Amino acid sequence: MSDVKDKAEVTETSEAEIAVHWAEEELVYPSAQFIAQANVTDPAVYDRFSLENFPNCFKEYADLLSWDEYWHTMLDTSDAPCFKWFVGGKINASYNCIDRHLAKNKNKTAIHFVSEVESEKVEHVTYQELYVRVNEFAAILRDECGLKAGDRVTLHMPMVAELPITMLACARLGIIHSQVFGGFSGQACADRIVDSGSEYLITMDAYYRSGQLIDHKEKADTALAQAAKEGQNVKKVLVWQRYPGKYSAATPMVEGRDFFVNDLLKKYYGVRVAPVSMPAEAVLFLMYTSGTTGKPKGAQHSTGGYLAYVTGTSKYIQDIHPEDVYWCMADIGWITGHSYIVYGPLALCASTVIYEGVPTYPDAGRPWRIAQDLDVNIFHTAPTAIRALRKIGPDEPAKYTYHFKHMTTVGEPIEPVVWKWYYEFVGKKEAIIVDTWWQTENGGFLCSTIPAIKPMKPGSAGPGVPGIHPIVYDNDGVVVPSGSGKAGNICIQNPWPGMFQSIWGDRDRFVKTYFERYCKDPKSTRWQDWPYLTGDAAVVGADGYVRILGRIDDVINVSGHRLGTKELESAALTVPEVAEAAVVPVKHEIKGVEPDMYIALKPGMVASPELAKKISMAIVTEIGAIARPKSVWIVPDMPKTRSGKIMRRVLGAISNGTDIGDVMTLANPEIVEAIQKMVQGK
Ligand code: WT7
Repeated sequence: MSDVKDKAEVTETSEAEIAVHWAEEELVYPSAQFIAQANVTDPAVYDRFSLENFPNCFKEYADLLSWDEYWHTMLDTSDAPCFKWFVGGKINASYNCIDRHLAKNKNKTAIHFVSEVESEKVEHVTYQELYVRVNEFAAILRDECGLKAGDRVTLHMPMVAELPITMLACARLGIIHSQVFGGFSGQACADRIVDSGSEYLITMDAYYRSGQLIDHKEKADTALAQAAKEGQNVKKVLVWQRYPGKYSAATPMVEGRDFFVNDLLKKYYGVRVAPVSMPAEAVLFLMYTSGTTGKPKGAQHSTGGYLAYVTGTSKYIQDIHPEDVYWCMADIGWITGHSYIVYGPLALCASTVIYEGVPTYPDAGRPWRIAQDLDVNIFHTAPTAIRALRKIGPDEPAKYTYHFKHMTTVGEPIEPVVWKWYYEFVGKKEAIIVDTWWQTENGGFLCSTIPAIKPMKPGSAGPGVPGIHPIVYDNDGVVVPSGSGKAGNICIQNPWPGMFQSIWGDRDRFVKTYFERYCKDPKSTRWQDWPYLTGDAAVVGADGYVRILGRIDDVINVSGHRLGTKELESAALTVPEVAEAAVVPVKHEIKGVEPDMYIALKPGMVASPELAKKISMAIVTEIGAIARPKSVWIVPDMPKTRSGKIMRRVLGAISNGTDIGDVMTLANPEIVEAIQKMVQGK
């Protein structure tokens, strides 16, 4: 089945339906001071990257990199929609993020690692030290694990400097890394180990979260046991130590299987590993993400195209200069972290900040103290964090003397009132804001303003970034004109270098999910026939500014974390008593939305608070704590259509206390009132 609903199904709940439709906002202009120092100030950039100049415009991004062999073909469409960029080129991502900076900048900080424990000193990793550590760890991958270009390795690591070190060591050898968000469960890690066919797992013993040193090694044991059950044997687990030389987890190490990286490193002191020259289209990494089915999909990102795209957008949209101190508060376990904490900033020789913990720990002043101490001037975060900081410490930013020139918001639509607090209080009216809209699949930004050229509009991401040409279609494939005020399905007309190459091991699902709906000719090898379906609903203003309304598929966005409702439902179905499960998004002040879960039991089974708890725990075990439902409602029956489909739209309306609309055509309209009583107490 396609990941995006067919026409007959669009009547069910989608985030678009409950999205906030805020009014048109006044434009806010960048300051002269910002413009004076910006990387891009000439509006001609939009002409250079126009559709007429596609695809050759992207030479501008490719030329920001150091190629071992220069490419001969910009874009090869012969296997559409699996597009190949910079064909013939050879390149190494680790070399581009490290080695090439050494001659001039070896003493400069590449990574500032900030422990959640405020009394611990910040670790400043210079480019030279990054070089040494990446080389020595690459030697372990090569000589202790026998890993080579094209092999996959799963990483399940927290927010520590060792995570980019591990990624860049993989990249140095052409090994494909697949980092699983540290907050995901061992079970979720196992699914990704199995799908990617990883024979090695790299993890860390422990990390801090809200003041607790959490045992993380425990998850590796669950992951390995489960992966083995699913037929994938992991040969070794490499365990970094949060405190080198000391083991901080209670879970025992398994003799002959688990190895401390810090022990192994002793053998590799001083070893240097030559970066392997990889074809531009070689896979750099996999990033698993959620879709309509229960099975997460591995977005497969290329080396040359991806790196060129994140470097170009880091320079043009993030306005990163080599002398900037840049802090993106996302987790490296998500695409934002890969592109805009690790690869983009390091390719540009900036200093990037990695913060281990919770932004509001121990109080809502923490981010501003970090910004002040490190003199951060570019700040990047998500609406959910901004909402939390605004709620807990609205006046905190004013107490500190940091100055941002540039701020980013990413991951969800931002309410204008929250945008304004970010602008006035966090940015102190000095910093410009870019609202960047994109997805795991895209590698880098799709829509945003170019900060020194276009004014900001609270609540709207902005037009397509250079070389990205959005188009909105209705369900029948008719173009919805900009400025019509009508919403539709937003697509991108053209491919771009950062776009994923496929879903790992599932080209059919790739084609079906992202292209089938609006493909003009499935046999075509012209890129013009393959608009990319993003899965978001959007309205485009007459000025070309895009306002994202939310997903049109079964994906929900909880605190900026992308979850498939089907994944939660499948997790609930692992509880033997459960017959049916339905998940709907409920609005939440900080998180944007939370999942609410409805359950129907098998005949003869009895509802109880214990059973509801068991179902909730099943979600945490299968996926992770971020997916824990707000409530588990065990209902006598699900509201269904006459054809037997669960009416999620009705459940969504009940959870959100909004109008449930006409339910008389349901097979069992009487059930609606019973559920309403249960949930709303009326
Ligand atoms: C979905 C993708 C890659 C960014 C991190 C999330 C929503 C993302 C925005 C934004 C409104 C946004 C979309 C998109 N989204 N950025 N600026 N404004 N909505 O990546 O986990 O793959 O989620 O996040 O719905 O489809 P992701």
